[in-house]
Amino acid sequence: MTSAYRALAFAAHGYRAYLGDAFERLRLPALPERDLSGAECVVTGANQGIGFEVAGALVERGARVHCVCRDEARGRAAVEALNARASQTGRGRGRAELHACDLSSLAQTRRFVERYTASGRALHALVCNAGAMVHERGNTSEGFERNFAVNTLGTHVLVAGLRPVLGRTAQGDANLEGEGGYYAPRVVVVSSAGMMTEPLEVKDLEMRRTKKFDGVKQYARGKRHQTAMMERWARLELENVGEERVKSGRGYVGYYSMHPGWVATTGVANALPKFYASMAGKLRTTAQGADTILYLLTAGTEDLQPGAFYFDRAPVAKHITCGFTRYEPKQVDALVSKLDALQAEGSVRSEKNLLKASGSFTKGSATKDASTKDASPSSETKTKRSNPSWNIR
Ligand SMILES: NC(=O)c1ccc[n+]([C@@H]2O[C@H](COP(=O)([O-])OP(=O)(O)OC[C@H]3O[C@@H](n4cnc5c(N)ncnc54)[C@H](OP(=O)(O)O)[C@@H]3O)[C@@H](O)[C@H]2O)c1
Repeated sequence: MTSAYRALAFAAHGYRAYLGDAFERLRLPALPERDLSGAECVVTGANQGIGFEVAGALVERGARVHCVCRDEARGRAAVEALNARASQTGRGRGRAELHACDLSSLAQTRRFVERYTASGRALHALVCNAGAMVHERGNTSEGFERNFAVNTLGTHVLVAGLRPVLGRTAQGDANLEGEGGYYAPRVVVVSSAGMMTEPLEVKDLEMRRTKKFDGVKQYARGKRHQTAMMERWARLELENVGEERVKSGRGYVGYYSMHPGWVATTGVANALPKFYASMAGKLRTTAQGADTILYLLTAGTEDLQPGAFYFDRAPVAKHITCGFTRYEPKQVDALVSKLDALQAEGSVRSEKNLLKASGSFTKGSATKDASTKDASPSSETKTKRSNPSWNIR
């Protein structure tokens, strides 16, 4: 009953606030004119949709954008298009670079983090945009439920793994070239207001205890995890550096989550075809969907609320009134402890999974394969390709 009430309240509010006409009615001023020459930015899922739009705006502002894409060919095409766009309209210094990495793979995500860290580059902005809505119960080749692998575990591995680099950048002078001046490093996670339909799930992270798998529910839980994780990193940052630093916007890392609105993208068309068709012409454009992300990336962090959930450039509620979804910080700590444990267990799990999937694997080769194999449908369990999903190609 509560869950039906939350779904209804979310839909009713969504029709009023999340579509393109609502964005237009706001008549927001132009985004801050921020020169990002010299900034190093990572954008996941940058080859299409909202991520591509964000990456384009960043290269135009002069940033070097590290595009994390799971498909090498699609990623390369996007990077070429971004660089062509930057040379025509940008400040000339902006560049896009491809990092092929499937974020549903723990091994590949860790490898990306290791390589980025080893490169010695600064990191000014991390945009966790890639997301999955898969309707069928199924596992990645490493044995993780597929929505959970990208939305929750992938986000955690990326943010926790790159936190030292962000911290180092904040501790350095973090000054950008050109007219950019000081730029406080920050993380923006593209969550979804759909998370408001679900409480914080800590026990059954991979929806294994429920008989009937519900991909929309599991997606909403992952988005709730993302928002809660940003809240926690912001809390820890505040404890570490103190309120004064946060107020001055210097020497600290900002953590935010946001909702882009209901946006016309391939992801929505594939995962929610009926909704997409019924909303034809009404959904937001990708530029409108990217607006709040770009606001969070260009505003001064002293003007932003750490750990907040943003929509249309303002912090908004994370819970539906009387929705019974509130949680304590210690529950988020418990979630993160579990994710850390799963990370540690990851390689063992993937080895077992691969051994189960094919009798021909020797123990050693299974481990090797787990680090390179994509989460292709052939290696997943109980997955029908014909079903609509946000994450399957
Ligand atoms: N559109 C909306 O109405 C809406 C509403 C709320 C929240 N969001 C969130 O917005 C974000 C962007 O979605 P979108 O609407 O722009 O959808 P999209 O057009 O499908 O873009 C998603 C991007 O993420 C990438 N991706 C997915 N799984 C990945 C993985 N395992 N590893 C690396 N990259 C992966 C996709 O790559 P491929 O091209 O290879 O698939 C694609 O580039 C998502 O997190 C979504 O949950 C969207």
